[in-house]
Amino acid sequence: VLCWFYIFPVYRLPRDKEIVEEVLRQGEVWQKNQTGIDLYRKLLTECCDPRKMFAVTKVNSPMGKVLWYDGEFYHSRTVNNETYPLFVQENPLQLPLKKCAVVGNGGILRHSKCGREIDQADFILRCNLPPLSKDHVEDVGTRTHLVTANPSIIEKRFQNLLWSRKAFVDSMKVYGSSYIYMPAFSMKPGTDPSLRAYYALADTSSNLTMLFANPEFLRTVGKFWKARGVHARRLSTGLFLVSLALGLCEEVTAYGFWPFSVGLDEQPVSHHYYDNILPYKWFHAMPEEFVQLWQLHKSGTLRMRVGCCP
Ligand code: CDP
Repeated sequence: VLCWFYIFPVYRLPRDKEIVEEVLRQGEVWQKNQTGIDLYRKLLTECCDPRKMFAVTKVNSPMGKVLWYDGEFYHSRTVNNETYPLFVQENPLQLPLKKCAVVGNGGILRHSKCGREIDQADFILRCNLPPLSKDHVEDVGTRTHLVTANPSIIEKRFQNLLWSRKAFVDSMKVYGSSYIYMPAFSMKPGTDPSLRAYYALADTSSNLTMLFANPEFLRTVGKFWKARGVHARRLSTGLFLVSLALGLCEEVTAYGFWPFSVGLDEQPVSHHYYDNILPYKWFHAMPEEFVQLWQLHKSGTLRMRVGCCP
């Protein structure tokens, strides 16, 4: 079968409908390809060294180290007495991780019944403190090992933690004893809310462990995908996590990645599994990212779940 990357010139992204057709053509067929998995782990290790670099640690960011913000032009923060004690000693994950599930927030997860399959993974990564309430459990599962938290969520949902911290600490309980992965050194206004989130958890002896995303890792992963044709101001959180998982896990399955308005049954799909609030249009390039992920799916490097789970 001629693949649609060759049929359509690279400067035009396929339309939603064309992508649906392509995905349907591929069907449920998927075969793991160990060579592809090994190759991507090698490529990602060479460019970005996720094992050592994904989080800010005392080892990779000692006192005096200058952290360059990856989302700002020429802005840095030097590690000092205030920040150094908040960093973990070194990568706390038990490597290699076996089966990993990366859960995006796409509306395609609604009625997918993928919750059970997701919960069976050895390591489950989720994006942006997603809702895991009862009505979603069947579709998205309950367990979490690492969840990202954008500082903007702290600002919007928890009044920047300037007032009560209780709502924040309580709402984090659904993530059990997982790692909270915060890009504290990506944008300057995000640092203080991230540090407050750290203290809110530490002061309440929470079971969660804060990991600050290493801006150097985020920058190198951005470059990695840019060289492969993803042209966005910033990668989506989901693609960062898939990249991390490809570097750390023996097997990766991605759920909830479907940035299109129609589903495989040609019915409308909401943007998220819990709401239909669309992102800023030109900030991310999710359809471009999907094309990359779909290539990896076709080559057996990772598995994309875009339909219902058995
Ligand atoms: O903050 P951001 O817009 O990156 O993410 P989100 O809306 O909270 O969703 C988490 C991730 O799921 C995104 O970063 C995308 O990688 C993925 N996603 C998708 O592929 N399709 C959607 N319709 C929604 C999210």
